[in-house]
Amino acid sequence: MRIVHTIAELRQALAGSTHTTFVPTMGNLHEGHLSLVRLAKEHGGPVVASIFVNRLQFAPHEDFDTYPRTLERDCELLRSVGCNLVFAPSEAELYPEPQVYTVQPPAALAGILEGEFRPGFFTGVCTVVLKLFHCVQPRVAVFGKKDYQQLLVVRRMVQQLALPIEIVAGETARADDGLALSSRNGYLSETERAEAVQLSMTLKEVQLRLRRGERDLAAVESAAMDHLRQRGWQPDYVSVRRRTDLLPPTPEQLAGGEPLVVLAAARLGRTRLIDNLEL
Ligand code: PAF
Repeated sequence: MRIVHTIAELRQALAGSTHTTFVPTMGNLHEGHLSLVRLAKEHGGPVVASIFVNRLQFAPHEDFDTYPRTLERDCELLRSVGCNLVFAPSEAELYPEPQVYTVQPPAALAGILEGEFRPGFFTGVCTVVLKLFHCVQPRVAVFGKKDYQQLLVVRRMVQQLALPIEIVAGETARADDGLALSSRNGYLSETERAEAVQLSMTLKEVQLRLRRGERDLAAVESAAMDHLRQRGWQPDYVSVRRRTDLLPPTPEQLAGGEPLVVLAAARLGRTRLIDNLEL
């Protein structure tokens, strides 16, 4: 496995490769990322993973400075799952000057849910992902369903800009108790880690209530948020949406088997966790 830090080295290493499969990451890797690399391996060609903590997608009050940088360990893990090439650029390499050309995803998809609570987040994500796509020029790119809205926003960007890239979705990897794996789980204290399972349990409860035939979505969502609040969480949202565009389903769609997903974001102590469940 080669590790390169510059765009020039990356292009040289991939010269002539028309079947590259790409897994973008911000490092601090866990089993969830490794499962995406294993999935990437199924798509043939060299598998490239990027490791880059993207300042553009962090708000000033967020954890950009403290986000764990664990390059050596990340590379060992990537090697163990058969990744072929790691692209780990410095900030000066990827953003040699302020990035004033940016990608503005549509508010209807990127201004809701995460976009409502993290304004500018998806502009930062799309800008870096498009730039990384230009650097790596993959045929396939793998994104996790853990970041469900990000997956949809990137898919739509690829479609709208006619990029010749197939976006493949990887399932969310979970701990034994159901907690979705996330780099930010490492911020949780022992007590918070034990409590964190409540987020996925809350999503399962929403699923159960809808399966039982409850149709008042607002009531189901607000009961879920109240449950979290009573346990000391500060929920941003628990929301049932259409899988295709993350808009709320109409009553007809709810009754008529429209594919749905319930998404949630909530703060536990100082850690903000997100999760989702396809219904
Ligand atoms: O999901 C992530 O880790 C990041 O948002 C991504 C896609 C690597 C862009 O920085």
